[in-house]
Amino acid sequence: MRTLIRNIQKLVQVEEQVVVKKAGAAMGKVSCIDNAFLLIEDGSISDFGEMTNCPAQADEIIDANGGMVFPCWCDSHTHLVYAGSREGEFVGRIKGLTYEEITRSGGGIMNSARRLRDIPEEILLENAYRRLLEVQSYGTGAIEIKSGYGLTLESELKMLRVIRALKAKTNMTIKATFLGAHVVPQEYKENRDDYIKLIIDKMLPQIADEGLADYCDVFCEKVAFSVAETEQIIGAAQGYGLKAKIHTNQFNSMGGIQAAAKHNALSVDHLEVVNDDEIEFLKAHDKLMSTLLPSAPFFLNDHYPPARKMIDSGLAVALATDFNPGSTPSGRMPFVLSLACIKMKMTPEETINAATINGAYAIEEEKHLGSIAKGKIANVFITKPIPSLAYLPYSFGSNLVDKVLIKGEVQ
Ligand code: NIG
Ligand code: FE
Repeated sequence: MRTLIRNIQKLVQVEEQVVVKKAGAAMGKVSCIDNAFLLIEDGSISDFGEMTNCPAQADEIIDANGGMVFPCWCDSHTHLVYAGSREGEFVGRIKGLTYEEITRSGGGIMNSARRLRDIPEEILLENAYRRLLEVQSYGTGAIEIKSGYGLTLESELKMLRVIRALKAKTNMTIKATFLGAHVVPQEYKENRDDYIKLIIDKMLPQIADEGLADYCDVFCEKVAFSVAETEQIIGAAQGYGLKAKIHTNQFNSMGGIQAAAKHNALSVDHLEVVNDDEIEFLKAHDKLMSTLLPSAPFFLNDHYPPARKMIDSGLAVALATDFNPGSTPSGRMPFVLSLACIKMKMTPEETINAATINGAYAIEEEKHLGSIAKGKIANVFITKPIPSLAYLPYSFGSNLVDKVLIKGEVQ
């Protein structure tokens, strides 16, 4: 099956030479071809170039009508499977409570866990699938989804089975992350070691046995797990072949980044609170992707990661949504790009690299996704006619995506 997209005003993020990620000054550059075509064969990109060299025939011809074509966003951090909304906490924060206070009083993640335990798997799947289609319509073609609202063996398995079912229902690339260590459940508050034992001795072996997860996450934070506990858990997960992607430095800098590097983690995510020594440390450990989630501090009215400083010191950063019912009830990547420009002073080009190739790296899909390159999977979106690249983050809140193709098929 050959699909040809013609009359592309700008083909964005073209790679002649494939890179695994972009860091520092390279993040500011996005290669494009004006007035272009893109040829897709059997779900993969087979050719592209200027319209003057456009092939005449294909099984399916799509006219981009002057829209731009981008590689789909790779959203490398979400909690898209959840049981109910938490607008009560939203109102609580308006009245002065903090996210951490809500967590300490048994709300927050525990609130979601209580709801999730009661909800049938089919309903959980139906709701998650609806959200997945919504984020896809904003250009997301690959997504990482975490468990972590189960916090019992049975409910964590339920969440991971829902993620497996989502993988079967769509052609999108989906990665599953086990986040049993999201918060210590209330019933274990006095004996937290027992909960860690449950994770290590019961949850991890069964999840590995059933092949339910690609990665393991821990919320390394004062209100959740200490650095020593984080190391215990991600160390055990490594034994099952699960690399770590951890939540750290959201509210406190306490050694999570160093722990992640020690265990060869793939990414450190959040990083609202990062000091100069940690930036230097990240530079020296450049396999670790720094994943920034600006819609979380937007929604919690907190401060943003020092993205400008990080990129100026040569680091690579990825952008992801953190879609979840507590700190980010939105999975729209274009809004994340807008926030990154407005609140973190990233340039539009930097946000595109952060949301495509660097996001792909953070889910180990950089060889298959994240750019327009021959042989990569044809997950692309066509925009409505727009005047420039910068127009995309500029026009925050609008959906400028006209068509999404996943593995070369129009959705
Ligand atoms: O990434 N910080 C920890 N986990 C999520 C929030 C989860 C929740 O509040 O439900 C986050 O922000
Ligand atoms: Fe998160």
